[in-house]
Amino acid sequence: MGTPLLKINHISKSFPGVKALDDISFSVEKGRVHAVMGENGAGKSTLMKCIFGLYHPDEGDIILYGNKCLFSNTRQALDNGISMIHQELQNVPSQNVMENIWIGRIPYKKVISPLRITDEDKMYKDTLALFDKLNLDIDPKKAVKDLSVSTCQLLEIARAVSYNAKLIIMDEPTSSLTDKEAAILFSIIDMLIKSGVSILYISHKIEEVMQISNEVTILRDGTLVGTYKIKDIDSDFLIRSMVGRELTNRFPQRPQNPHLGDVMLKVSHLESAVPGSFSDISFDVKRGEILGIGGLVGAQRTELMESVFGLRPVKNGTIEINGEPVTIKSSGDAIKKKMGLLTEERARTGILGKLSITDNMLVVNQRYNLPRYRKNLIFLNNTLRKSDSREYTKDLSVKTPSIDTQISSLSGGNQQKVLLGRWLMLNPDILILDEPTRGIDVGAKYEIYLIMRKLTSQGKSIIMISSEMPELMGMSDRIMVMCEGHLSGIIDGKTATDEEIMKLASSY
Ligand SMILES: Nc1ncnc2c1ncn2[C@@H]1O[C@H](COP(=O)(O)OP(=O)(O)OP(=O)(O)O)[C@@H](O)[C@H]1O
Ligand SMILES: [Mg+2]
Repeated sequence: MGTPLLKINHISKSFPGVKALDDISFSVEKGRVHAVMGENGAGKSTLMKCIFGLYHPDEGDIILYGNKCLFSNTRQALDNGISMIHQELQNVPSQNVMENIWIGRIPYKKVISPLRITDEDKMYKDTLALFDKLNLDIDPKKAVKDLSVSTCQLLEIARAVSYNAKLIIMDEPTSSLTDKEAAILFSIIDMLIKSGVSILYISHKIEEVMQISNEVTILRDGTLVGTYKIKDIDSDFLIRSMVGRELTNRFPQRPQNPHLGDVMLKVSHLESAVPGSFSDISFDVKRGEILGIGGLVGAQRTELMESVFGLRPVKNGTIEINGEPVTIKSSGDAIKKKMGLLTEERARTGILGKLSITDNMLVVNQRYNLPRYRKNLIFLNNTLRKSDSREYTKDLSVKTPSIDTQISSLSGGNQQKVLLGRWLMLNPDILILDEPTRGIDVGAKYEIYLIMRKLTSQGKSIIMISSEMPELMGMSDRIMVMCEGHLSGIIDGKTATDEEIMKLASSY
């Protein structure tokens, strides 16, 4: 096998209080998909950022085509044939699709300096040509703020490919894609591999890694577990190596005699005030029940639940909680009715990046439970805030040096756990979870499922939007499936099959 395309040689990197990478070495061959797996906080993204010139390793070398190269910025990495799809979406919402693709490389028409005029025609044609090559159907002139999360993700993929790189780093590229869109990505990867490009592929989705990669390197707590050929291992081995222990079940056992109580939330004939969104949706959730919501992108699941939570206007329909009609016109109204909503887009709507874990966890609770946290007229009781934050950080096994750590320095999956903690703290009766385990590792997923089961055993109701079929089927008591803004069916979660859900998701 000649010189490897990329050689990682004894790389170490520390942050205050954390050794994120400890003596990591492995090689990536040309024309291969090389997966990197490990639990949340294992050091995957940090390693990728070292390769891409975003971080400088404390020790070790990165060798590209036999040449040592530690890039001091991403421009250098891009110029040397490495591009990267980041874990957190990097799009500029205020710009349109094509400006986002060619960011930093916008073509200009010949003009007398210092005047610069964008060559819109060229940019449009180049974008169409790129999308055509990748089989993507996105309007180059559409504003990015109007795109769905999954389309934004596809856009990032297209941009990474547009650099004609030799090595493309993909940090959880499918975290917000449906199976159908993921299949588009896999065919793009296939095309790239055939032309000799290598992919460093990070994902928490075990089946996906087994399906598309040739090799896998496993990290645990910043150390190297090993590099294996996929054909030599199975998924149980993968899980065991990542988690460091046996994990026999992916989902907690369903309760023997699930005790479902009275109807907690009843939604009747709800219709969005936004034309073309959802209409005539009726469903209920009982105490102690998990109602899963399945559907494809565009099914309006998020729009529906955000409307129930008062974040979007509705035109018709009624909502009852515990048999009482309620008016919910804002998230504040919803919170006062003991509802919580964990949003799907943590980067855009969830995280207060510059603030600490404690501030992020308490931001909602200290507003709605002010008397609990008020020390006097001016100050909050910081000791109590911290002890509450410490309790949830521990319960959710958030990997962090301290609860005072800035949330943006946590790994993606650990940020998600903090946001979940934010809503658990409010002790809601009705908890809406929109893709709750996106970007979360297998072990931590299990912990979140256990928490969900614990909440329902206490008589709470959970509504879980999920694009992961196994999760929908493994956790829901009933599954409501939506298609293009319509309710296409509500089925029993214990007996539901992939086919049944897919069929309902594609027609109503
Ligand atoms: N800029 C930073 N400042 C401080 N600590 C950091 C920074 N970036 C990462 N870390 C820490 O380094 C460790 C590794 O984080 P990293 O983001 O690489 O994990 P990961 O394997 O990508 O996890 P995930 O699957 O959750 O994305 C974590 O403990 C994280 O908190
Ligand atoms: Mg990461």
